[in-house]
Amino acid sequence: MPVTKDDVIASLSQVAAPDGRPLPATGTLSDIVVGDGKVFFSISVDASAVQAWEPVRKRAEAAVKAIPGVQSAMVALTAERKGGGDGAAARPSPAAAAAARPRSGIGDPVGVPGVASIIAVASGKGGVGKSTTAVNLALGLRDLGMKVGVLDADIYGPSMPKLLAIREKPQTIGGTRLKPIERHGLTVMSIGFLIEEDTPMIWRGPMVMSALTQMLREVEWGTLDVMVVDMPPGTGDAQLTMAQQVPLKGAVIVSTPQDLALIDARRGIAMFRRVNVPVLGIIENMSTFICPNCGTRSDIFGHGGARHEAERLKVPFLGEVPLVMSIRETSDAGLPIVVSEPEGPHAAAYRAIAAAIRAQLDAGTAGRAAPKIVIDA
Ligand SMILES: Nc1ncnc2c1ncn2[C@@H]1O[C@H](COP(=O)(O)OP(=O)(O)OP(=O)(O)O)[C@@H](O)[C@H]1O
Ligand SMILES: [Mg+2]
Repeated sequence: MPVTKDDVIASLSQVAAPDGRPLPATGTLSDIVVGDGKVFFSISVDASAVQAWEPVRKRAEAAVKAIPGVQSAMVALTAERKGGGDGAAARPSPAAAAAARPRSGIGDPVGVPGVASIIAVASGKGGVGKSTTAVNLALGLRDLGMKVGVLDADIYGPSMPKLLAIREKPQTIGGTRLKPIERHGLTVMSIGFLIEEDTPMIWRGPMVMSALTQMLREVEWGTLDVMVVDMPPGTGDAQLTMAQQVPLKGAVIVSTPQDLALIDARRGIAMFRRVNVPVLGIIENMSTFICPNCGTRSDIFGHGGARHEAERLKVPFLGEVPLVMSIRETSDAGLPIVVSEPEGPHAAAYRAIAAAIRAQLDAGTAGRAAPKIVIDA
């Protein structure tokens, strides 16, 4: 018999909250996602009560794992900034939140202590090379002497474990905080470090949000000049909420040159503009194909489309990266090209893009253009 939500709630009613009440009665549970023998949910509590709740989270996880038919259980503890006890599911929908957000804002999404700037690498369309760009761009910023972090916000399809060949699990500090993984001088966190590669990503809105908030706020990022966030593809509610929840200095849009991708890039730009996050510019990826055998260049997806689009939309054009076999191969091998061929032309292209972004961060263009955004919580 497949496990049901009711089975999970029944087993959780045997788990006592810090005040002695059965866990389901406390109003702290998110939606419970059950699928294929796997159970996910989060417990949202006031930030000041996290210590007291951690043992409850552990007991809840153990109780769910003990249900016959459950293969794995993941229970996340999420700290609410204020209030508490209202549960993630009680938050306004992203659309409602966006509608309610004042254009010129009165608040700021709370910054991450120690992190000077956070930038998103995004695209409207999937598979255009965001993650590849994010990691090589992060390495390019590192080469400029910056201390750089990478947050893999693609909860459904995390890429950093593979791109950086990271297989170890992050250690916990003091029971509630996670220590990110260090690789090639980058400080990296991804949901992929915490769950097995073949775990189906059946998380739903509130779960995704709590995972993102946790990766942002419950990870010891240390002191960073810049954090590069690898965004999931698309411009739907989930992405919109992410764009609002992360205190972004700006967003970088990756696009391939063909029209279809550019339409999605335009949607991406519109999304960031809607939440008052400045667009730092567009990168044209897979710009020109360079044949690995003969070195001949051909424009498979066209060429120059993103530059033209950037001009049209009045956002900076940050540079182009060709479609080359070695970029894909090095990505697949877990050694991004900026690490594996640091003297090569492609590493130089990423560094040039990094320099263009840094110049904007240094000039404060990114921060200045941003009327303050109000966070949902
Ligand atoms: N410039 C490039 N040259 C050759 N291959 C590339 C280049 N950029 C990305 N790729 C390859 O294209 C594929 C998709 O790239 P990537 O995973 O970075 O895209 P993405 O936009 O993050 O995808 P998703 O939307 O699924 O998150 C990967 O196999 C990657 O190695
Ligand atoms: Mg990706």
